[in-house]
Amino acid sequence: MCGIVGYLGKRNAYPVLIKGLKRLEYRGYDSAGVALLTKDGDLRVYKTKGKVADLENFSSDKDTTGTVGIAHTRWATHGEPNSTNAHPHISFTGNLAIIHNGIIENYAVLKKQLQEKGIEFKSNTDTEVLVQLIEYVRTKKNVDLLTAVRIALRSVIGAYAIAILDKNDPDQIIAARKSSPLVVGIGEEEFFLGSDASPIIEYTDKVIYLDDKDIAVIRRGKDVEVVDFNNEKMEHEVTKVDLNLAQIEKGGFPHFMLKEIFEQPDCLKDCMRGRVNVEANNVTLSAIIDYRKHLINPRRIIIVACGTSWHAGLIGKQLIEDFCQIPVEVEYASEFRYSKPVINEQDVVIAISQSGETADTLAAIELAKSKGAFIYGICNAIGSSIPRATNTGSYIHVGPEIGVASTKAFTGQVTVLTMLALALGKERGTIDNVRYSKVLTELNAIPEKMEELLKQGDAIKDISRIFTYAHNFLYLGRGYNYPVALEGALKLKEISYIHAEGYPAAEMKHGPIALIDDEMPVVVVATRNVLYEKVVSNIQEIKARKARVIAIVSEGDETIRKMADSVIELPHTEECLEPLLASIPLQMLAYYIAVAKGKDVDQPRNLAKSVTVE
Ligand code: M6R
Repeated sequence: MCGIVGYLGKRNAYPVLIKGLKRLEYRGYDSAGVALLTKDGDLRVYKTKGKVADLENFSSDKDTTGTVGIAHTRWATHGEPNSTNAHPHISFTGNLAIIHNGIIENYAVLKKQLQEKGIEFKSNTDTEVLVQLIEYVRTKKNVDLLTAVRIALRSVIGAYAIAILDKNDPDQIIAARKSSPLVVGIGEEEFFLGSDASPIIEYTDKVIYLDDKDIAVIRRGKDVEVVDFNNEKMEHEVTKVDLNLAQIEKGGFPHFMLKEIFEQPDCLKDCMRGRVNVEANNVTLSAIIDYRKHLINPRRIIIVACGTSWHAGLIGKQLIEDFCQIPVEVEYASEFRYSKPVINEQDVVIAISQSGETADTLAAIELAKSKGAFIYGICNAIGSSIPRATNTGSYIHVGPEIGVASTKAFTGQVTVLTMLALALGKERGTIDNVRYSKVLTELNAIPEKMEELLKQGDAIKDISRIFTYAHNFLYLGRGYNYPVALEGALKLKEISYIHAEGYPAAEMKHGPIALIDDEMPVVVVATRNVLYEKVVSNIQEIKARKARVIAIVSEGDETIRKMADSVIELPHTEECLEPLLASIPLQMLAYYIAVAKGKDVDQPRNLAKSVTVE
């Protein structure tokens, strides 16, 4: 969703801001803008609908001097994507410029009150309310900008990360956050702001992650000062950011998504490093050691997540029920947050999120916490809001995921869930030693098997060319591979805009079979496991209706090879680990179909990387 960049220092701010916005493009947006305090003391604002490149074109013949500025990419919520609604927004005096991520829930009430006081609004956004309110407080009460921000934010309900420039004070940026991330970077006589660290790491690795209700005063020649709404000083450590430039660049791949697909073997090694020890026949998750008493014997586990993370949760349910014999429910966080769940302190809630910023998942955590449940987070983005809101948890350690379509985060989440189920199962004595060792050894071997699988990239690319004509796809799987089918369908629809549905294979005859004809490709995950024969029957039913079948099978399966139109073979592994392998060809299939159709794979239309609004 929206991206924030800010700069105050000795360089020309504009190139830093533009580069920063480009680093944030992955979040998804539809307009962009920049505000600069220029050398001659002017506040210049340039904004336009479209991409950062459009903003560059638009500004190319304009004054972009100045060593302080703020910039923004907007993902439209209130008001259509156009240059008026794009950020920055300017106060009625023309002195303040603001950029904002998040949503102001009581903006309509505030807007009405301000309009009654004669303030005119130029845009349809909730953001403009903030800048007008702050300016109104400042002029009416005759206070400084920091005081006005503190007072104004007290009457604001909603989520925000903001940065404000004052035309009459070119040595200062004020920033604040609530439920929307904001990072301050500290360089040599210069400061940076970002909605995450990616626009900052090129210049400094020293950052301060702001907390909810923090207001940061960034002043030339001074240390960053952080206060709360009551002007109490908030102590903040300057931390070293654990991110490097190579991780957020394409490294020779045409798209981040392809890079991230190919990174998966290394990512899973990182995910298991220090945790899986085959020689010692052990898997260690520090959270389970530190919080044993909360985790060892819950009445029930509830997994909350959205999208791909929810699919990982469905696999987690099977793993935990299988190894630990604890009942598990998997809920969409967006539904859970408005339900009336019967949960208490005997329950454990596992929240899964790549970004760690998903608003629905955060709200689900807050609800579960209020009922006394113990919260375990499984996240990728270090220092993000969800790990800070949970009691404990495990990072997946797969590095920044830039492509909007989640790939390596999914396999990282499934890997952590497997380690969690193994470790808990062993502690509880619900998994026998032979099975434990077998799964552990196989889990350790997954990266190597993924490497093998990735070599089939060209073959999958060839298959994908045949299917670019399709308007609909069906994905089928059973048991552990049912969530893989759901995930495969989600990948395809997200980036190629082809309608795709995932189903448990046996459900086909209860409805979806009516859709099957020679124009409907069906992807079937049909590995050799206990349900194999039944899935083979499903393939026969599909072929009888003349649909093309793309089958994901176990190595050496000649039976299905004779029946299916295209076959992708998976190396053998334990059934419970098959999702880690089977998801790879489905990611590739979606990728190559989208590329063949000329779609914007890394930034698909209407989608955002971290969904920080409801
Ligand atoms: O950051 P999160 O894992 O909480 O995000 C949840 C979903 O928004 C996300 O998985 C989404 O479905 C992806 N675009 C899937 O590729």
